[in-house]
Amino acid sequence: MQKEIPQNQWKNALNKRSEENSLRNIKTTHGLIDFSSNDYLSLARNTDLLNAVKQAYENAAIINKLGSTGSRLITGNNEYFEKTESFLAQTHHAEAALLFNSGYVANMAVFSTLPQRGDTILFDELSHACIKDGIRLNHADHFPFLHNDLDSLEKKIKKAKGQVYIAVESVYSMDGDFAPLNELAELSEKYNALLIVDEAHSTGVFGQNGAGLVCELGLENKIPIRIHTFGKAMGCHGAAVVGSQTLKDYLINFSRPFIFTTAMSLHSVLSILEAYKFLTSNNLLQADIKNKIQKFTSSNLSSIKSFSPIQVIIIPGNDQARKSANFLQDHGFDIRPILSPTVKTGSERLRICLHTFNSDEEMALLTELLKTI
Ligand SMILES: Cc1ncc(COP(=O)(O)O)c(C=O)c1O
Repeated sequence: MQKEIPQNQWKNALNKRSEENSLRNIKTTHGLIDFSSNDYLSLARNTDLLNAVKQAYENAAIINKLGSTGSRLITGNNEYFEKTESFLAQTHHAEAALLFNSGYVANMAVFSTLPQRGDTILFDELSHACIKDGIRLNHADHFPFLHNDLDSLEKKIKKAKGQVYIAVESVYSMDGDFAPLNELAELSEKYNALLIVDEAHSTGVFGQNGAGLVCELGLENKIPIRIHTFGKAMGCHGAAVVGSQTLKDYLINFSRPFIFTTAMSLHSVLSILEAYKFLTSNNLLQADIKNKIQKFTSSNLSSIKSFSPIQVIIIPGNDQARKSANFLQDHGFDIRPILSPTVKTGSERLRICLHTFNSDEEMALLTELLKTI
């Protein structure tokens, strides 16, 4: 007889979400103006880049396969991984880079593998779920510190045991604000802590050729571990951990999210390489997005000071935030509410992402509508 599965328990949990107006569902939108995706530099929709990837794929596929057929350590490796990793290391001013299937997996790899029993991880309270999930998989002690609060962090460093790891994002995914990287690097140096920076939302947008905020600030020698992801401004998919050759070798040997998974496809690897090459020869895209950010912030609508493409308007309450997003969607704008429990109760919001393809007219219309909310 088939074993009964706990459907009722699942249904109860789903009903509770519905009652709290926080039920997540997957939606496809067509024809709305995109102020929601992470395609900040419009690379995901750039036909020149698409054609460059097609061409590179046609050239390489003659000697390669559709899927990678195995993990990197068995049959999944090929010369395009190595070429791309060398390119990434050079672009991000690091000794080495190691590709991962996604940013989620890269963070899981770093945080589940590096800290050991007896060590301490201090992480910004607004760290992305994949940083927190990776942290849960190791035996080190771990404590959050208040968002971007150096005093809160220093107090915790003073009490910490073993090797101290500090985890931050250069641009916070839900608030759009920057981490105080200069001060964090100083503090790490003072206490001999290892600073790990997730550059998911700054990759491509900041730094020469999209190198990220750490490189833009010239801090690459003070921050030994960085995570760059390619599903946002780079317009494709995947991620890399950049740092020393020893870090790379260690992850290859000990990181389960690297070892026990099929390597990414040839198409994904080539897309990353071509996206970086494209950005290198189209640096004006960075000026374009900065211009959009400047235009939007001059309207003083954002609830949180942000110089990144992520702008936030806090509308407390799941119901209210959802209603406001629906209102904007009815006017043709693809803007999604970010509800609790994804963000803290009371800080529900509209997360508005700016892109180089958003026209001045669209931005003006959106700001007018936002003023009426
Ligand atoms: C800060 C941050 N880190 C990591 C990730 C995960 O990256 P990926 O989407 O490539 O898995 C995200 C994506 O939402 C993110 O915002």
